[in-house]
Amino acid sequence: MTLPSALLLPKSAYTSQSWFEREQATIFENNWQFAGFTEDLPAPGDFLTVQAGRTSIMIIHGPDGELRAFHNMCRHRGTRLLRTCGKAGKAITCPYHDWSYDFKGNLIAVPQQKEEFAGLDKSKLSLHPAQVSCWDNMIWIHPDPEAPSLQTWLQGIEAHLGPHRVSELVEHADTATSHDIQANWKLVVENYIDGYHLSHLHSTSLNMYDHKQQQSGFCGPHFHFYEPLAPDYAANVDKQSPLPVIDHFTPEKPLGAYVPMLFPCFGIGADESSWSIFQIIPLAVDKTRVITRTRVMPASDWSFWTQEWKSYSHYQKQTATKADKSNRDGQEDGDDPLASGDFMAEDIYVCEQQQKSLASPWYSVGAYASQQESAIREFHRQVLQAMKTATD
Ligand code: FES
Ligand SMILES: [Fe+2]
Repeated sequence: MTLPSALLLPKSAYTSQSWFEREQATIFENNWQFAGFTEDLPAPGDFLTVQAGRTSIMIIHGPDGELRAFHNMCRHRGTRLLRTCGKAGKAITCPYHDWSYDFKGNLIAVPQQKEEFAGLDKSKLSLHPAQVSCWDNMIWIHPDPEAPSLQTWLQGIEAHLGPHRVSELVEHADTATSHDIQANWKLVVENYIDGYHLSHLHSTSLNMYDHKQQQSGFCGPHFHFYEPLAPDYAANVDKQSPLPVIDHFTPEKPLGAYVPMLFPCFGIGADESSWSIFQIIPLAVDKTRVITRTRVMPASDWSFWTQEWKSYSHYQKQTATKADKSNRDGQEDGDDPLASGDFMAEDIYVCEQQQKSLASPWYSVGAYASQQESAIREFHRQVLQAMKTATD
């Protein structure tokens, strides 16, 4: 019997600057991208910016209540107009020469216009528009105002997602995380969609799910994944769960973990007690930021659950960890990600180790699991397709 042939992306896809730049120009400028939640921009003038390939996009809450998106670039000589997030005054004013735009992107003021810019038609120098669209209370943007809609791009994936009603859950801000990982963004995606490692790397940290029952597939370029709760955990989930159990599971969408990865790199982790984003942001060919933000059932008394967590932590963190089976190079447990009982630390560890090995001339992918790693091959196909389509 022959093993499945190698995965599709070459080593240079993870190590070459020119490959990284091509991805930015093709994949990241031609797909919808998560920008934030509507609660991040509650009032007129509130804005945030997000990088989409080679361009920065600003989303601004207008006085009419509308969200609008523009390329974050002055039409005079290109200075970036707004920084990461905040509140604009009555207009968007460029820091360089004070050209000003209203919240609909119209150029409304040019200092010394009569003396210096005779004949300038301000109506021809509005900000370049981008697309913005909301999905529940998630804000998504696309740099191309003519691109197919967000709903078209999602193309049926919602049927495979959990029943979680995002806007009815409340953000548990204390648990938001940001990690800079020394690995190419695709290794982080591949780890996320790898069903094979769950019962190995996470043998002690994610044992509340029944990994043998995992179901996964693709809907267009988007990956979807579901696995039910482990029977022991399910039998007493109300007590075992560290947080209040989500109250809107249905027979069609039962309890379990729904863990999709929307192309190219936006993960959602929706489980019995929480709904989280796993936002992967490529920073450099070998550096990736992962932001997580978590929403949970509204609970009137969080201290109760914090206290309960201590006594019901069996499924979150166990005394026997992965490190017990591993060569730890004499590290103290406190420093060892494999001793942390934290699946995120375990995942970061293996991604960074893979990136290091990519520098070795001996590196190659020997084989991949025909079922539980097949999503990685399909992801590679989607990456190559997206890069090719965009350059055709
Ligand atoms: S570059 Fe913006 S006003 Fe000159
Ligand atoms: Fe993992």
